[in-house]
Amino acid sequence: MLQNKAHLDDTPVTPPTVAPTASGLSLPPLQDKFGRTFDYVRIAITDRCNLRCTYCMPEEGVEFGHKDTIITTAETLRIIAVLAKIGIKKVRFTGGEPTIRKDLPQLIAGAAATPGIKGVHLTTNGLLLHRMAKDLLAAGLTGINISLDSMDADRFMRITRRPGVETVLNNIQLALDAGYPRVKVNVVLMRGFNEDELEKFTCYTKDHAVTVRFIEFMPFDADQIWGTGDHFASAETIVNKIKSLYPNIGPAPGTRTEHHIFKVPGWAGKIAVIPAFTRSLCGNCSRIRVTADGSIRNCLYSDEQYNLRQIMRAGGSDDDMIALFRKAFAEKAIDGYESKKLSDAKGILDTTQQHRGSMTQIGG
Ligand code: GTP
Ligand code: 5AD
Ligand code: SF4
Repeated sequence: MLQNKAHLDDTPVTPPTVAPTASGLSLPPLQDKFGRTFDYVRIAITDRCNLRCTYCMPEEGVEFGHKDTIITTAETLRIIAVLAKIGIKKVRFTGGEPTIRKDLPQLIAGAAATPGIKGVHLTTNGLLLHRMAKDLLAAGLTGINISLDSMDADRFMRITRRPGVETVLNNIQLALDAGYPRVKVNVVLMRGFNEDELEKFTCYTKDHAVTVRFIEFMPFDADQIWGTGDHFASAETIVNKIKSLYPNIGPAPGTRTEHHIFKVPGWAGKIAVIPAFTRSLCGNCSRIRVTADGSIRNCLYSDEQYNLRQIMRAGGSDDDMIALFRKAFAEKAIDGYESKKLSDAKGILDTTQQHRGSMTQIGG
């Protein structure tokens, strides 16, 4: 199978045993009971979005959190500073749609200036990027992942319930022209919907220095429009299809989610396949999630939440916050299947009173 986990372009292969801090003190890194080290935090900075992707939200939106439950700029930067003390090196801002937050450049600059933080990334639908591309780069952004499930205007409209394919394509080009490092395109692949665009998206890497990443669909949609059955395309099927279309592809370096990653020799970009649903990437997990309302999640497939906002707003110390991160990760299950089983058994519901009502709160 074509995959390469030995080369990780922005994740350290061997994490340090002790994390240096700004104050010169050293604290043990964040680890789970299986010895995995967590050095990458994904922070959802809003649960709102300017699109309504059918696999994510119903047309009317989900029940968004109240404004005062969303973590503030200062709280977000405090979380990052606290995490840096226990070895976190990579920050990703997600949402909802993070570019909706007016303080995004401030958040990026603050994260980039935090001692110990080596990379600050953004996952966005790309619709508003032209308004702020230069500011985000100047603030210190080191990578951008742009979601685009179809290059066809009608299909884009059908999946997102909004127009905008041209804008997103232009903004990918804009990011490349502006010199953004690590530009990636996230394509959720759905059988019978956009699987026939696999070749078109792969070909896009010929002249564009982007990583096109085909993502397995996860049935987390609040409406349950999609279900997994008929529309599910497994990572293995996608990889085999790419290999049959391009027999000369070879391995390439990638990150931990890019479980399968390769390159057509001579082409500018890379192609990756993310087994988000089959979860073969769990053993290599290094991710911490913080939701838009300031809760820690130890796995994308767990509904268990650890309320960091409450600790911060009750005057808790950095040590109190670190203790909650350590508790959350001491309780992390071995993989996404176990996480789901555990949280389903507890009957935990999210803020929309459903199991994983929408990805917009979790941030992907
Ligand atoms: P890189 O740092 O560039 O590798 O990005 P990323 O893949 O970590 O972040 P992105 O926000 O682009 O996420 C893309 C998709 O990867 C998400 O929508 C999920 O489908 C999948 N993914 C990310 N993290 C996890 C995870 O912990 N478990 C599973 N199963 N899927 C994940
Ligand atoms: N399954 C797979 N990927 C999803 N995303 C959102 N919802 C789902 C889902 N149900 C993707 C988006 C974006 C990333 C953050 O998560 O397309 O690229
Ligand atoms: Fe918005 Fe992303 Fe959800 Fe689409 S998948 S509605 S872009 S948060």
